[in-house]
Amino acid sequence: SVESVLRSDYLFKLLLIGDSSVGKSCLLLRFSDGSFNESQMSTIGVDFKIRTLELDKKTFKLQIWDTAGQERFRTIAAAYYRGAQGIIIVYDVTNKQSFENVEMWLSEVNKYGSGDVNKLLVGNKSDLTGKREVETERGKELAESNGMKFLETSAKTAENVEEAFLTMTREVF
Ligand code: GTP
Ligand code: MG
Repeated sequence: SVESVLRSDYLFKLLLIGDSSVGKSCLLLRFSDGSFNESQMSTIGVDFKIRTLELDKKTFKLQIWDTAGQERFRTIAAAYYRGAQGIIIVYDVTNKQSFENVEMWLSEVNKYGSGDVNKLLVGNKSDLTGKREVETERGKELAESNGMKFLETSAKTAENVEEAFLTMTREVF
């Protein structure tokens, strides 16, 4: 509500990055609006949404920037890294290439993000069980070796979506 935004104790800026079509915009739509779009348009440049969150009796206002995964927008997205306190790197569990590219996204974070930025690794589309190409254990290992927390989500069923943003908020706080 308007009141909770005005009364929020903390303002955090979060950023979503990762390959095109892994579901960044759908995760943000699920979190901010509680809905899912089967025919979500690919993001052009950047977009953002705001949601407040109650956690441990505090109110957090989250300003969440949603970047375009397409290569031609990468320099635009990079300009938003520095302002972010938390960066969520998303891959698609049904797309091995998107998982292999996480290393590249991490190097973008190292290059453009602030030194103390908090990172979270998210494997999205966990609902597509028959199409899985990346095992949960692989995601866990990659996250651990880079000092990140890890979650698998589904923007479609809402599984772990709230939890992912809560985890990121706790990490930043
Ligand atoms: P860019 O904006 O190009 O970087 O892509 P994006 O990462 O924002 O992906 P987007 O949210 O546009 O989703 C791409 C496609 O995947 C859309 O057709 C979505 O409906 C679908 N999708 C996203 N999340 C899920 C999910 O959790 N499960 C399933 N089954 N489909 C999903
Ligand atoms: Mg998008």
